[in-house]
Amino acid sequence: MSPIGSAEWVMERCDDLTRHSSRPDALERVYLSPEHSAANMAVRAWMLDAGLDTETDAAGNLWGRRAADGTRQRPGTAGEPALVLGSHLDTVPDAGRYDGMLGVVLAIAVAHRLRDVPLPFALEVVGFSDEEGTRFGKALLGSCAASGQWDPAWWDQTDADGVTLREAFLQFGLAPDRVGDAARRPEDLVGYLEAHIEQGPVLESANLPLGYVTSIAGARRFVLTITGEARHAGGTPFSRRRDALVAAAHLVTRIEELARATDCLATVGDIRVEPGAVNVIPGLAELTLDLRGRTDNGRDALWEQISAVGHDIAQERGVKLEVVETHRAPSTACAGRMQAAVATGIAEATRSTGSTASAEVLGLWSPAGHDGMAMDAVTDVGMLFLRCRDGISHHPDEHVEAEDVAIALDAFTEAVLVLAREQEEAR
Ligand code: GLV
Ligand code: MN
Ligand code: MN
Repeated sequence: MSPIGSAEWVMERCDDLTRHSSRPDALERVYLSPEHSAANMAVRAWMLDAGLDTETDAAGNLWGRRAADGTRQRPGTAGEPALVLGSHLDTVPDAGRYDGMLGVVLAIAVAHRLRDVPLPFALEVVGFSDEEGTRFGKALLGSCAASGQWDPAWWDQTDADGVTLREAFLQFGLAPDRVGDAARRPEDLVGYLEAHIEQGPVLESANLPLGYVTSIAGARRFVLTITGEARHAGGTPFSRRRDALVAAAHLVTRIEELARATDCLATVGDIRVEPGAVNVIPGLAELTLDLRGRTDNGRDALWEQISAVGHDIAQERGVKLEVVETHRAPSTACAGRMQAAVATGIAEATRSTGSTASAEVLGLWSPAGHDGMAMDAVTDVGMLFLRCRDGISHHPDEHVEAEDVAIALDAFTEAVLVLAREQEEAR
């Protein structure tokens, strides 16, 4: 094993975590699964090695903590307010190995680097339990619990097997009525800093290893259910058909047209058809819709258009359209002081590598969602982005270079020290 705190150690630990998957041929680790528990156990051991004491909270998030003087301290005990570093440990289906996990492991490496350095605040590392929303449709469940935004309406959301979120809590050994215990109080927090692969092409195109995030796009997710009539594919003339899938297909292409005319993004990522037989007209089509906008207003205006078009198509084709919103998160501005700390960290780290390609410090907004969208409700949020190859993510080909991770470690460590110096000066 490479020395803890090194870029190689970070890369190896991201490799290790691929073991904890529900599929032998691909990486998939969803909220409250046996793999979630196993990943928490592996990461807990690394946190302990880095000088942190650990605790799993009432929503399955894994926390590590040291006190300001560097001694281990149990998360959840009274103490100095904490600067929290971290990201998430859950994945999409057939995922890459860096989305989320890199930010958690990198945070542990930074904690290790700073283990003998007194700070004016406690330092915590978090591995959030659900950012992607793969299992229950609602994303950011882990960080919504940690930021005190749990909505009891979520308890009845089900996974693909019909298991409710409440049942999954119980199966994992968590008490649903204690979920409020996971909530952090603003007065106990100094800020939340997350390192993450960019998941887009901007840094690679600019030939830069790192960037700081200015804001995160607002998101909404829906399940659209179109109900027509399942009938014989041979015996039913077109004039008598109420084909749910053809209606869905029209809607999908219209969604793309509508979104292309805005600066928002819209994606139909999944479609399920019933009864799903070669010689039966589809009676039901269930689609997922993911919407993102730089502003909440832009995103909501696009949704209004999609909804109107959807109802028009339904009327024309004699089918019924029902809409359930499964997730909504506001667009989030990173706090000025957190942006500045990360930008200074990048400038210092790239200066010390002597890289000519890295003279610029780039700020960029994130169309992808992150746990900071929830944590913003209780503390200031900042993010460091790392270049990823070909901008690809949510795919097994996701890749980050060890050299970029090495610079990111320096930059992230420096960002923590910038915030520490600021807090000391303010005393
Ligand atoms: C999370 O990765 C998201 O943006 O969907
Ligand atoms: Mn993701
Ligand atoms: Mn992520």
